[in-house]
Amino acid sequence: MKLFDVYPLNDIVIDKAAGSYVWDDKGQKYLDLYGGHAVISIGHTNPHYVQRLENQLHKVGFYSNSIKIPLQIELAEKLGKVSGKENYQLFLCNSGAEANENALKLASFYNGRKKIIAFKKAFHGRTSLAVAVTDNPTIVAPVNQTNNVIFCPFNDETALEKTFKENDISAVIIEGIQGVGGINVAYSSFLQKIRSLCDEYNAVYIADSVQCGYGRTGKFYSHDYSGVNADIYTMAKGMGNGFPVAGVSISPKIQPKHFMLGTTFGGNHLACAAALAVLEVIEKDALMENAAAIGEYLITELKKLPKIKEVRGRGLMIGIELPEELNQVKKNLLFKHKIFTGEAKPNVIRLLPALNITKTEADIFLEALKIELEA
Ligand SMILES: Cc1ncc(COP(=O)(O)O)c(C=O)c1O
Repeated sequence: MKLFDVYPLNDIVIDKAAGSYVWDDKGQKYLDLYGGHAVISIGHTNPHYVQRLENQLHKVGFYSNSIKIPLQIELAEKLGKVSGKENYQLFLCNSGAEANENALKLASFYNGRKKIIAFKKAFHGRTSLAVAVTDNPTIVAPVNQTNNVIFCPFNDETALEKTFKENDISAVIIEGIQGVGGINVAYSSFLQKIRSLCDEYNAVYIADSVQCGYGRTGKFYSHDYSGVNADIYTMAKGMGNGFPVAGVSISPKIQPKHFMLGTTFGGNHLACAAALAVLEVIEKDALMENAAAIGEYLITELKKLPKIKEVRGRGLMIGIELPEELNQVKKNLLFKHKIFTGEAKPNVIRLLPALNITKTEADIFLEALKIELEA
C-alpha cells in the first residue's frame, strides 16, 4: 500500500526534537518557528510532558467515556482557571474540526436554528460543517455544500448587522486571528459587535481558538483582547503539544443533555495527561507572559526591516507579508538558514513558534531574515 498523496512535502525527515529545535536524520539542526503548525506549545519533548505521559501510559492509557475519568475533571478545573472561564463546561474531543463541528451543533441544539455566519478567508477545518464554514470552495465537496452558511466580510460591522436582520441566525463563528487566511486580526470593536448582536438575537458566539488560542497571543484566548466573552471557545492545536486532543469550552447558559454529543477517543486518560502537562508548564513557566514579551519584541523589530509589505498579528502568531518578488524567502529560510516557518497565500510568512521561545532564538531568525531581505 502507498500513502494517499494529499500533501506537497519538503524532502526532510525529522527524527529528534528538543525545545525549539529539531534535527533531521542526517544530524542537521533546524530552528522551529512553525511548531508543526502551531501545535508545539511548550517545546518539543518537554521533560515534564514526557514524564507525565510516560507515567500515565504505565497506569492506564485508555478507557471509554462510559466510566468516571477523574483526569477529565482535573483538566476541566485547570483549564477553567488558566483560561479565566471557571464557570464554563468542557467537552473533550480529538481535533480542531471536530471541536468546531460540535460547537456548531450545540448552537443549533440551543436555539433550534440553522443559519451560521462565517467570514471571508476563514478556516475552520475539513469535516462536514467545519468545512462548510471554511471560505475555500476547493476543499468543500459537493456533499458538504449547504445554504445554511452566510459568509460576511471580516471586520465589517454594517454587513454583519444587515445579515442578522435578514436571517434567523443560529451562530457566528470567528477566529480571533485568522491563521490560514494570512494572520488577520479581528478588531475588538468587531468582536464586541458580535457579542451584542448575539445577545440581541439569542444567537451563539463561537470563538474558534484552535490556532490563535491556548496562550499563543499572550492571553489565553485571543478573543479576550476584546473584553467580551464568547459563548463557546474551541481549541486544539497547542492543547496537547502534539498529542491529539481538542476541547469545547461551553458557557453555562447552554445546558447539556445525555447523548447530545459523544466521542470514543475524546478525553481519554493519555490525552488528559498530555493536556494537563501542557497547562502545568504554561502556568509554572509563565509562558503566556513570554509569548506576549517575545511576540512584541519580534513585531517591533520586524517593523523596522526593509521591503516587508506588512507585519500583522499578536504575541507569537505573526504574519510577515512580503512582495511577490520575494517569494523565495520562506524556502531560503528553511534550506539555507535551517529555520522552519509557516506560510499563508499569497506570500505571507507565518511564525507560530513554541510559547517558550527565547530572545536569542528570535534574534537568530531576525538576522537570517535580514540577510534574505538585503540579498
Ligand atoms: C482556526 C482553525 N480552526 C480549525 C482547524 C482545524 O483543525 P484540525 O486540523 O485539528 O481539524 C484549524 C487547522 O489549521 C485552524 O487553523
